[in-house]
Amino acid sequence: MSKEKILVIGASGQIGVELTLELRRLYGGANVVAADLREENELLKSTGPYVSLDVMNREMLHVQVIRQNITQIYLLAAILSATGEKNPSLAWNLNMQSLLNVLEIAKDEKLTKVYWPSSIAVFGPSSPKQNCPQHTVIEPVTVYGISKFAGEFWCNYYHRRYGVDVRSIRYPGLISYKSSPGGGTTDYAVEIFYQAMNEKKYTCFLKAETYLPMMYMPDAIRSTIELMETDATKLTVRTSYNVSGISFSPKEIALAIKQHLPEFKISYKPDYRQAIAESWPQSIDDTQARNDWGWKPEYDLEKLTTDMWKNLHSALPQK
Ligand SMILES: NC(=O)c1ccc[n+]([C@@H]2O[C@H](COP(=O)([O-])OP(=O)(O)OC[C@H]3O[C@@H](n4cnc5c(N)ncnc54)[C@H](O)[C@@H]3O)[C@@H](O)[C@H]2O)c1
Repeated sequence: MSKEKILVIGASGQIGVELTLELRRLYGGANVVAADLREENELLKSTGPYVSLDVMNREMLHVQVIRQNITQIYLLAAILSATGEKNPSLAWNLNMQSLLNVLEIAKDEKLTKVYWPSSIAVFGPSSPKQNCPQHTVIEPVTVYGISKFAGEFWCNYYHRRYGVDVRSIRYPGLISYKSSPGGGTTDYAVEIFYQAMNEKKYTCFLKAETYLPMMYMPDAIRSTIELMETDATKLTVRTSYNVSGISFSPKEIALAIKQHLPEFKISYKPDYRQAIAESWPQSIDDTQARNDWGWKPEYDLEKLTTDMWKNLHSALPQK
């Protein structure tokens, strides 16, 4: 394992921090270079190298890859669904050009592997709502979803045309306590915990019965590393794999939090994110990921809520 040298781009984000820490644990701190537009990250300090880098600058990125003898890239920099709707051209430019920059460098430098996440946002109103299959009608209506769908086919193209070993997962909404979410439609499921801790109440920007596919961060990190460690011959999907964790609504997560904080109250004030949420499936069929590389989620809603509550409780001052 230690012959690999990994560059994580977008390492200061919600996924980046935890993925970088886990990769450093597995590959050794010095072998995992964290990179982000942000200058530094408190949570990553003293566990390995950190460089400030703009993934849009292909020349500078290329120099870093050569200078640091990088063999693998995890590209996490992106503009997410809710922020993307506020600035569609910025979202399209960053989400597409960052991927093309990385794929070109991977081809030229013959990198061993690339990881790039897609999202359940590739699906649109015409996709099946329940157990949405791997292969189905895909007609996204958000700029984020359009960029992810196009990105999936760029990954497939670079794999078929140039043999780049690029792998991808369509993450559901991710719930975590170490690093804050970066502007997605599923961010409510993280905010609700902080508001419960601090205010004992939460006003949700989605309606009570809005079911969405979600996943707890430890499952997301494990799925990523398991996919990346799988023998390439076993992978049959080179666009992006469906993976499933849990499906729940704001009303259900509020009830789960009430188990820990009986006085907790939730109210609802849906905004523009309701339309985004309603364009997505409510649950995902991940049979192909289970068959190809043995994917199996560990956290259900109760286990996730208990773990989040315990960790936030020990980290935050209470009111
Ligand atoms: N968090 C989720 O729920 C979720 C769900 C599905 C897919 N994803 C995907 O996973 C990936 C990571 O998501 P996240 O939630 O960690 O996002 P995030 O917004 O929390 O983090 C993205 C990071 O990228 C950095 N960045 C932005 N522009 C950059 C640039 N030009 N150069 C270098 N770094 C730059 C940001 O500073 C930030 O630290 C994205 O591709 C996202 O689409 C996330």
